[in-house]
Amino acid sequence: MRTVIPSPAWLLFALLFLARDLLAQPLPYESKATTLGVVNCANSLCHGSVTTWKGSNILQSEYVTWSRVDKHASKAYPVLLNERSQRIAKNLGLAQPAHQTKLCLDCHTHNPALGQRGERFKISDGVSCEACHGPAEGWIKSHVAPGATHADNLKAGLYPTSEPVAMAKLCLSCHFGNKDKFVTHKLMGAGHPRMSFELDTFSQTEPPHFVIDEDWQKRKRRWDGVRVWAIGQALAAQELIDVLLDPKRSRDGLFPELVVFDCHACHHPMSDVRWTPRQGTRPGAIRLNDANLLMLRQIVRRTFPDGDEKNFNDLVSTMHKAVAGEGGDALDAARKLRVGLDLTIEKLRTRDFTAADLRAMLEGLIDDGLAGQYTDYAGAEQATMAIGSVLNFLAKRGELPAVREANAALDRVHETVRDDEKYRPERFRAALADLRKTVRR
Ligand code: HEC
Ligand code: HEC
Ligand code: HEC
Ligand code: HEC
Repeated sequence: MRTVIPSPAWLLFALLFLARDLLAQPLPYESKATTLGVVNCANSLCHGSVTTWKGSNILQSEYVTWSRVDKHASKAYPVLLNERSQRIAKNLGLAQPAHQTKLCLDCHTHNPALGQRGERFKISDGVSCEACHGPAEGWIKSHVAPGATHADNLKAGLYPTSEPVAMAKLCLSCHFGNKDKFVTHKLMGAGHPRMSFELDTFSQTEPPHFVIDEDWQKRKRRWDGVRVWAIGQALAAQELIDVLLDPKRSRDGLFPELVVFDCHACHHPMSDVRWTPRQGTRPGAIRLNDANLLMLRQIVRRTFPDGDEKNFNDLVSTMHKAVAGEGGDALDAARKLRVGLDLTIEKLRTRDFTAADLRAMLEGLIDDGLAGQYTDYAGAEQATMAIGSVLNFLAKRGELPAVREANAALDRVHETVRDDEKYRPERFRAALADLRKTVRR
């Protein structure tokens, strides 16, 4: 009898299945459990202590951080009442004001169905604890029981924010959108701001209400910030591809949905001619927003063998060309790229990046910039955040020789992308060239 030896194709299938399974984790807003409300977490003996507790695993001051300095508390919901939101609602012809419209509430607060709201739930709490950690009905009691482990809490319905893929999915569900909630070009035309996101940068600026130390890693998992950053890039690229592949979201009447394209390909003064040849794009065509794919070039290069990097770049190129009407099948390339990104994410879950990897990625990002890959604002903006993250990882490992100089040079790069309307690719490149000098050993 022949023994069944798993073929590479079978393994690939199993891997994809595994990936899909892990990704199928319901997001907090999809949960059927009841949301209890922030007041249940805010007690000074729970998460509302003004000082951090010495003998405790966690800070206990999470509520204070969130309510005082986190925009999820102070701005996300209140902005729906401001003049800008009123204008957006009017321009869209909404039947109700923004703060009563599901479309807006789904991202600007935690908005469970009416039957899933506890007595003390308040819609005006904004992006609350339970918007990220999941409705607490199932775990509020057990998570404080003596001996309760993180695994027990997850089983009881706590959302796995400590798992990088789950975390990225959660943030992106509002900071880019997904199949259930989405900021279209129509919304932007009505006055909604452009969305930009980078997982590591945004996690730092939120600011965090947790400390990832040895104790955290013992209770939860080993944490590698680079890995989280890389997974964030891959998932963001997938979310964009998903819009392209979604027959509902990819169209806006006769036209394609413009949110997947580079905004500034259309929105910049005609006197400012800035197109330069790069990866499959052509002059005078709208371009896909490939900011995350540009970052992934570096990640793929350091994670897979040479042949795979070439395949990746070819697929991106094919997609750009097909979108610009230069032949080829854009959707086919998008589908293949999506599968490739699934595999990338699987690989990244256990990928350890060495200091040499980080240095090579940093130099690769800067060199791509100097070679004109980031002439589009979105690419330059994403590269700036990525470079900041990688510099920070190197500095933390004591592998950056001139930290002060590098930070000062990074500030100058930031300055060139601060205002998208004043972005000039040549100024960005000059600032990158200066930064390059500070990171060379
Ligand atoms: C897919 C999620 C999503 C949806 C749907 C959405 N928003 Fe937003 N909105 C965001 C995010 C995320 C930001 C923050 C963008 C940033 O600063 O990076 C934002 C920012 C804003 C801002 C600017 C806030 C500020 O601090 O200046 C306003 C105003 C706004 N949204 C109003 C609305 C209104 C009105 C609706 C409904 C018509 C709506 N949004 C729908 C996610 C969403
Ligand atoms: C925007 C999403 C978000 C919101 C809102 C949020 N958290 Fe978190 N929280 C996270 C993430 C991400 C982590 C880090 C990963 C982890 O430890 O699970 C975390 C970690 C924690 C931890 C674990 C710290 C540790 O050392 O194990 C506690 C406790 C916590 N949050 C409580 C709260 C409370 C209480 C609120 C509301 C006042 C809140 N969080 C609001 C995303 C959020
Ligand atoms: C339920 C939707 C939702 C989720 C989930 C969410 N956010 Fe947000 N976030 C928002 C909205 C809406 C705003 C805009 C607040 C404002 O008006 O400035 C925002 C603002 C922010 C800001 C401030 C940005 C700025 O322009 O200053 C940061 C940083 C941020 N989010 C990080 C995160 C991270 C990290 C995660 C995942 C752990 C996350 N968010 C998850 C809705 C969400
Ligand atoms: C294919 C070209 C194209 C792309 C790509 C594009 N837009 Fe637009 N945008 C338009 C057109 C056309 C209008 C309508 C202009 C008008 O009403 O005068 C418009 C209108 C707008 C408006 C309202 C301007 C006004 O004068 O009322 C905003 C804001 C906007 N877009 C933002 C964005 C953002 C953000 C992106 C990227 C996510 C983007 N656009 C991508 C073509 C584009």
